[in-house]
Formats: sequence, structure tokens, C-alpha cells
Amino acid sequence: MPRVVLLVPTSSYRTNDFITAARALGVELIVASDQPPSLPDPGGVRSLVVDFNDPTKAADLIVGLDNKQGVDGVVALDDQGIEIAALTADRLGLRSSSPAAVSHTRDKASLRTALAKREVSQPRFAVFDDPEEIPAIGFPCVIKPVGLSASQGVIRANNHDEATRAAKWAQKIAGGGEMIVEEYVSGSEVAVEGLLRDGNLETLVIFDKPDLMEGPYFEETIYVTPSRHKPKIIEMVKSTSAEACRAINLTEGPVHIELRISGDRCWVIEVAARSIGGLCARTLSFSTGVSWEEIILRHALEMPIDFTRERSAAGVMMIPIVKSGALTGVQGKDAALRSDNIVGVEITVPIGRSIKTLPEGDRYLGFIFARAQTPAEVEQALRLAHAKLKIEIT
Ligand SMILES: Nc1ncnc2c1ncn2[C@@H]1O[C@H](COP(=O)(O)OP(=O)(O)OP(=O)(O)O)[C@@H](O)[C@H]1O
Ligand SMILES: [Mg+2]
Repeated sequence: MPRVVLLVPTSSYRTNDFITAARALGVELIVASDQPPSLPDPGGVRSLVVDFNDPTKAADLIVGLDNKQGVDGVVALDDQGIEIAALTADRLGLRSSSPAAVSHTRDKASLRTALAKREVSQPRFAVFDDPEEIPAIGFPCVIKPVGLSASQGVIRANNHDEATRAAKWAQKIAGGGEMIVEEYVSGSEVAVEGLLRDGNLETLVIFDKPDLMEGPYFEETIYVTPSRHKPKIIEMVKSTSAEACRAINLTEGPVHIELRISGDRCWVIEVAARSIGGLCARTLSFSTGVSWEEIILRHALEMPIDFTRERSAAGVMMIPIVKSGALTGVQGKDAALRSDNIVGVEITVPIGRSIKTLPEGDRYLGFIFARAQTPAEVEQALRLAHAKLKIEIT
């Protein structure tokens, strides 16, 4: 039975989706996490504790495991594990992008610099560390710490004073360090979910984000696929995404790329060397019910892949967090689940846990999933189901 090490932060609720995929595929999964996992259904899945803050040591541990019993693939579920996965794969000769390539995606300044060298279409930017001395790139602009994710610390500023305040706040959220200031790109946003094989990007889906995100903070809400953009725009999004991967030399594995479209141009906002975050991957289903997780495992093990996506439109809403506080209750879940075209509602924050709005927040409250004939029906279903949920935060 082929053996795959899956790197997951303990906080991830997506581990079970990978366990299900591994079972379907007849793959043994070893879950490597930063703490002993408390899986709801461990079901005989073995675990390994690795230090996510020390990728070299973590890779040593997995290489040691390989010496004893053989490791056939390494997969990272999200940003925190991708450097460990790349380092390990590099040493074991397994399928992965190089450690240098994935490290560009872990640092927003490094990513922008690498894309700029190859003239990939992206916003103008500058790197700085003193909030009182932000390089002038014009307004509006967007300020972000270089090392965070999930829109944490990402703040739009429309003038000098707002920019200074934003930079001080962003730096505080990040606990210090470098920041980046970028030209604000107006327009609609899309996310590309793709798989790289031997340097070639297979675009699996393009998600539209029908809620305009204009700041000052950028909360993700609805993702719907297939995209309603014109074929010409779709082609541009695909080719720009492929150029971005080539520019940083990403060659293998899942990628999640965000772009903004304004007029007849598109700009790369971000490239991540991982699949889509949270539980959003549940919107995707290939050939006869094959999950995105299964495709990722197949890729890591160099098994054949059928990319035919199911025909229906699909989408997810990341349930917005409207205020900070303790989550005391969620009413209306059954009613939301019974609404037309809704296929799932998951609340991922336990009752009693405190949550924060952006730019400070760092977790998703939950997800609503829909499937329908058309993207417009999916979008409408998500909005109607969301209106039935009553989220209580005190
Ligand atoms: N230059 C920009 N112009 C307009 N909007 C931007 C710009 N940069 C970021 N944004 C908005 O902020 C959101 C978050 O920014 P970004 O993707 O760079 O960081 P992140 O979400 O923290 O990273 P990750 O996607 O890895 O979690 C984007 O999806 C986009 O909506
Ligand atoms: Mg992003």
C-alpha cells in the first residue's frame, strides 16, 4: 500500500477529507502535525508530531521515517506545511516543486519581486518596515504584512494618514517585521484552482467572487464556478496564472492563484502552492465523484488523473464574521440546509470560542455549499441560505 505523509496544522478541520480520499484510493496516510492530533475519527490513521517552525528538522524526521518503512509521497494541506513538504520531497526524490520555489509563496515581498523579474502582470509594490516611512506608490493602496495569510492584516488605505495607521496596525497584527504596500487594483476577483505537473498548469476551475471586495478589509465570502467571465478573459486568467507559476519556478502540485480583472487586463494578487483553503475544496468533484483531495494524492503518487469536472455549477460561501466576540449560538442551520440547491452547511468554530473580524481574524466561522444548474442559481441559493442563519456573537 503506498504511503503518504500529510502535513497539517492541528487546527485544520480538513484532515478528515484527506483521510476519506486516502481510503478511497487505498493509500496509507500518516498525519504529521504540530501537536498530537485529536481526530474525530482516527480510524487507524497514524500520526507524527513535527515542528512546523523548524522545516529542516521536520524534514529530517520524515526522511527518518522513510528509512524505516518507506514514504511514497508528501503533501502539505496548507501554507504552514509546504516548505517542510518541499524539503522532504527534495531529499527523497518525490514529486514536488523545489523548496526555493515554494518559499516565494510564503513571503509576499519575495513573490512580488520574483514576478516582477519576469514582468508578470501585477500591482506596483514596494517593501518597507517603518510605518512612518511608507514608500510612495500612490493612492488608494493596500498594506499587508509579508508573512500572514487569509487576508489577516491586509488593509486598504486611501491617503497618507490612513496608510500610516494601517501599517501600524498590520505590523502589530503580524508581531513586527516587513510589510508591503501595493497599488490598489479595482475590479472583480477570481481564484484559479490548478494542478502543476512537470511545469504545466492544468486549470481545474476558475471561481468568481461575486461580492465586490473594496476594502478597507478583504473578507472572502462567495466563490462560484464555472466563471461567468467571457472566454477571452478566462484565457487571459489561465495564461497569466501559468506565467506566474513559471516565474517562480513552481512545477508540481496544487496551486491556488488569486487575480483581479479590470477592463481587459488582469493582475496577479497572489500565488499559493497549495489547494484552496478551509473546506472550500468540497465544492469540487471530478469524473465519478472523485474529490480534489484524491487528485492531490494521486498526483503525489504519480497515479493517473481524470480531470473531468462534474457538469453542475457549484459554490461555497465562507460565512462572514460580522463582529468580534464569543460565538454563543447558530440558529437556522436546518432551515438553511433545507433551502433549494443547498448541499451542506458546516459551522467550523465551536460554540463558546471567540472569533475576530478582519483584519485581525484568522479563522473561518463556517461554510455553506450549493450546487445547481447555473452559477447564478448557486449564488442565489447561497445568499438565501445565509439569510436563514442566525449567528449569535456576544
Ligand atoms: N493590490 C491589491 N489591490 C486590490 N485588492 C487587493 C490587493 N492586494 C490584496 N487585495 C485584496 O485582499 C485580499 C487578500 O490579499 P492577499 O491575497 O494578498 O493576502 P492573503 O489573503 O493574506 O493571503 P492568502 O491568500 O495566502 O491567504 C485579496 O484577495 C484581495 O481581495
Ligand atoms: Mg489571498
